[in-house]
Amino acid sequence: MSAAPIVPGTRRRLVVVGSGIAGLYAALLAADAGADVVLLSKGQLCESNTWYAQGGISAVLDEPTPGDTVAAHIADTLQAGAGHCNEEAVRLMCTEARRDIAGLERFGVVFDPGTDGGPALGLEAAHSAPRILHAGGDATGAKVAAALIRAVLARQAGGSLALHTGAHATALRQTDGHVNGVQFLQDGRTLTLRGDAVLLATGGAGQLFAQTTNPVVATADGLALAVRSGAAVSDLEFFQFHPTCLVPGAGTPGPGTARGLDQDPLLISEAVRGEGAVLVDGNGKRFMRAYHPGAELAPRDVVSRSIALHLAKLGDPNGHVYLDARVIEQAKGPGFLAMRFPTLTQRTLDAGIDWTRELVPVAPAAHYWMGGVLTDLHGRTTVPGLYAAGEVACTGVQGANRLASNSLLEGLVFGRRAVEHFLSPDVPGWGAPAGAPPLAGSAAGGLPLTLASGAPEGAEDGSALGATSAGAGAGFDALGGSRPSNFGGGSEPFSREALRRLMTAKAGVLRSGELLREAGDTLGRWAAVVRPGTVAPAADARLHEDRNLLLAAQLLVAAAQERQESLGAHYRSDCPEDASGIREEFDTTYPNRPKVSVLHD
Ligand code: FAD
Ligand code: SIN
Repeated sequence: MSAAPIVPGTRRRLVVVGSGIAGLYAALLAADAGADVVLLSKGQLCESNTWYAQGGISAVLDEPTPGDTVAAHIADTLQAGAGHCNEEAVRLMCTEARRDIAGLERFGVVFDPGTDGGPALGLEAAHSAPRILHAGGDATGAKVAAALIRAVLARQAGGSLALHTGAHATALRQTDGHVNGVQFLQDGRTLTLRGDAVLLATGGAGQLFAQTTNPVVATADGLALAVRSGAAVSDLEFFQFHPTCLVPGAGTPGPGTARGLDQDPLLISEAVRGEGAVLVDGNGKRFMRAYHPGAELAPRDVVSRSIALHLAKLGDPNGHVYLDARVIEQAKGPGFLAMRFPTLTQRTLDAGIDWTRELVPVAPAAHYWMGGVLTDLHGRTTVPGLYAAGEVACTGVQGANRLASNSLLEGLVFGRRAVEHFLSPDVPGWGAPAGAPPLAGSAAGGLPLTLASGAPEGAEDGSALGATSAGAGAGFDALGGSRPSNFGGGSEPFSREALRRLMTAKAGVLRSGELLREAGDTLGRWAAVVRPGTVAPAADARLHEDRNLLLAAQLLVAAAQERQESLGAHYRSDCPEDASGIREEFDTTYPNRPKVSVLHD
């Protein structure tokens, strides 16, 4: 790989926290370049958002779809990002994508082949050409992660990489401000690991919301660790909601269709809309064209918001709409869905829906955090010794709304760049990333946080953390902001479930100044008891996650209060005009396109 070799006699240790695409790939590159690498993950290696990725990885390769170019990928990313992206970072990511696709292949990842010998390329919303590489049809994340995990285990067996699973990072070690290790919980013990630098690759925070596509590990840990160490964060008001998450138990319209459905979140990939599926409301009416000329292939923020607004218009703000995938088989022949989307075909069947014959009930769910720990183009945070890559980081490539399938790519490109920087024999000084705001807390609007050093506190009563609220089991009926009553009320004590319902009801798809103020007040009241700016003195990892979620929620809501305009995924119903100023251009540039699959067409 392209990572610079280590200078003999200077074997430095990189501690990598997290085993999603960013952590696995970075650990492999660093280990193969001769660094002393220790990889920590709080669960099993496969427990990550990465594992669940379906659609794929966007990249313009040497032989793209005719007419597609890196410049088009850059333009699509900037456009979807609502003019809020860091252009330099986008340019770099799209240009270097092919390097890291090759890097993945070297570690054993095999992408689905197309008819011409190259990889098959799928189309997803707001991409102007098919450029999504996928594996196992709709099992891209699992296939990619499995290959990288195999490579990691091989290196562990060969002694070139050390691995700790079930190792839950709880704090960063710092000397004179420089991060030089992590503290973690493992088997009920608190342990410390030293290193020359730490790379946070801890993923996102979907667990902030009652409905999410994310697995349980997505609890904002890395963000909280970084904030407590003094790192700057950015763009936290931008949280993306995926438009089509299966609504458990909703059944399909018509008599006798109610079913007991699987309660696991099931994302129905955007690639399904890319193949031609359409959205209809409970009356069977296709509605997306009335909201955006791109219809079902408009950017993700637009589709999620349109669903929420449409449901509100129909007087059913907490309801759901339907994805009609039947039209795909009508156009492409029987058996197509099972061949192109084998996992989704099985998972929808498990949920009691035969999507070749029935509509799939769907609604938006929290999916991806564009904001995160501010980094520069080398993955450096504002704290010396601390790198961040993947969803936990904010490089600026995702802007105010991420373009589909750009997340796995970001984790690869900036994970590698962080490793290259770490390995570089002539590492320049640890300057603050360009445009870095002041430290977190003040950057997020003067939060009432107590920012402690990374060291755990002494004894403290954490009993309030364990408090549970009545009626915490949120159904999938709470579109953000559309029915504030979904949250139990101002006097409810803190619990993770109450936090998630609060965030969905008051800081979700549709926001307003009033809802955000109510959210901020409740979060502040909880924070006075829970003290999320400090490290929990507990050996129970869940208590650490609870504090991290509360801290992240406060930061998100403060940032959302501060931005009093609508931009990308941050929609304020009290200021609905889009502030990007690029919508017109978007409308004319992206007419509804024919649905393409180079794989099967
Ligand atoms: P993750 O893959 O989330 O990995 C984070 C790791 O950190 C995990 O191993 C976790 O256990 C570990 N960790 C967290 N906290 C700690 C701690 N305190 N101590 C130790 N370890 C910790 N993106 C695309 O580009 N294309 C897609 O098709 C796509 N589909 C998606 C489908 C679904 C259902 C979901 C949920 C997301 C999808 N995304 C997709 C988004 C993408 O999967 C994620 O943004 C990306 O995988 C994040 O990778 P990561 O390495 O940053 O983090
Ligand atoms: C999907 O497959 O719809 C998810 C793709 C993504 O999150 O980029």
